[in-house]
Amino acid sequence: MIENNAKIYEDLKSILVTREEIAEAVDKLGKQIAQDYQGKELLMVGILKGSVVFFSDLMRAVDLPVKTEFMAVSSYGAATKTSGVVNLVKDLTVDITGMHVLIVEDIVDSGMTLSYLKKYLSTRGAASIKIATLLDKPERRRVDLQADYFCFTIPDEFVVGYGLDYAEKYRNLPDIGVLSPRVYAPEA
Ligand code: PRP
Repeated sequence: MIENNAKIYEDLKSILVTREEIAEAVDKLGKQIAQDYQGKELLMVGILKGSVVFFSDLMRAVDLPVKTEFMAVSSYGAATKTSGVVNLVKDLTVDITGMHVLIVEDIVDSGMTLSYLKKYLSTRGAASIKIATLLDKPERRRVDLQADYFCFTIPDEFVVGYGLDYAEKYRNLPDIGVLSPRVYAPEA
């Protein structure tokens, strides 16, 4: 795995959450989930693509025979996103009737994506629907949405790494960092 002094880290202004802090938080969350879902049929649903790194670590921290699924949604740019228009790109491939669904996300920002997903999944007969997110950015919230589980509350900064991207890049950073403005506003 790349070290945090690797060349790619020159594109960061700072590291916000280290890989060690992430690993500790994910492990703790996994134990909590295992305890809460004891004896229940748990389906973890990862939302592509941002959640994949968190999802793969979290599922391995849950000591239960979990099932896994993925969904993908898209929004047409920032303006549309804030208006709440979210499009389903990839649906579930299984019937979730009677299952306990845990949606796994990398970040809750405006809350539009998860608000849409929760509403959409609530029509499918699940026994329960909860949300686990790695990051929560409450300053940006536009709808009343609360994650049931979260690892870190972060300020309104442009963060990348551990699955989060800027223009599809930087998802492979093992830590979460604040992107240097030099990368997205080279003139500034
Ligand atoms: C990100 C993130 C959430 C959503 C959160 O996805 O993974 O799905 O935005 O934002 P919201 O709370 O304002 O709705 P993005 O659309 O960037 O796609 P990606 O997961 O493929 O990076």
